[in-house]
Amino acid sequence: MVYEGSPGSDPKLLIDWMQQNKSEWTKDLNNSGAILFRNFSFSSPKEFQEFLLSTKEPLGEFYLGTSPRDQIVQYVFTASELPPHYPIMQHAEMSFLDNPPKYLFFFAERASERDGETPITDLRTIWEEMPNEIRDKVLKHGIKYRRRYDGPAQKKRYSLWKTKRWDEMFGTVDKTEVKKISDQNRFQLHWQGDDQLTIVNHQDGIRQHPTTKTTAWHNHSQTFHFQAAVSEVWSIFKRQKSIRSFSVALLLTILTGIKRLLGPESHDVHVTYGNGEEISTKDMKLISNLFWKHMKIFSWRTGDILMIDNYSVSHGRLPFKGPRRILVGWANS
Ligand SMILES: [Fe+2]
Repeated sequence: MVYEGSPGSDPKLLIDWMQQNKSEWTKDLNNSGAILFRNFSFSSPKEFQEFLLSTKEPLGEFYLGTSPRDQIVQYVFTASELPPHYPIMQHAEMSFLDNPPKYLFFFAERASERDGETPITDLRTIWEEMPNEIRDKVLKHGIKYRRRYDGPAQKKRYSLWKTKRWDEMFGTVDKTEVKKISDQNRFQLHWQGDDQLTIVNHQDGIRQHPTTKTTAWHNHSQTFHFQAAVSEVWSIFKRQKSIRSFSVALLLTILTGIKRLLGPESHDVHVTYGNGEEISTKDMKLISNLFWKHMKIFSWRTGDILMIDNYSVSHGRLPFKGPRRILVGWANS
């Protein structure tokens, strides 16, 4: 759904309207799952934060997610510091937590000239159309995640298969604090030596919307399964048809082939059904294809704000070139 102002509208107009019409935009958001605000001339992180505050929702500051992010102002972060050629597969924000954010907000402080879209997908439709065989396994067993992280001894912020270090994710080098946060989120911790950490946790893999009671596919299987990235990069190549997207797709296919030979124990991130059964390559391809079938891709315009109901709609990122800065904020459940 798009709320479009006349070109050059004052951001203050929208901020006031949001404050005064919460029941109206909440109703639209509950139905459509996402609202794009266009033509309101938002131009700075502070203005974006004013918009976030206008929702009168409890805004988030502590990010226990997997993307490397930089905090810009109190409730505003860069969406992802991953390099531009990295694809980010469709996911609901922090779906591996017991209480993921309720709403997610993106602001195109600077849209890229081409590509770099933030596609969205209705997770309620994905659940409805998920093949029965996969549905049954998720209903019966849920989803299990295992992630390995380097720590502060590793100077690099991210490596090819690891998107950040554990000290960056937990926002501390204090292992007692890490344990405390992990206990709150039912993460099982396994330390390897002093610096390496493996986190294991379990979720249902689906979620019921707190208000509308609809059911949505709600997990990070695409982000953490090695096959999903391969399907994604070839879908991106079909869309972008560039030499770079072909090279990335080819390279990732080769690297993933090696990963497959080395077996799941060698994978730094690993997702299975909750009983430990592997999600087969065939199942993962079906999941990826279903997402691409229903994905909505729109081009950012500088100044756009996208508001997402995180219990109903997923998001991702397509690779891009050149300057682009998308900022993010979120409201807790
Ligand atoms: Fe995300």
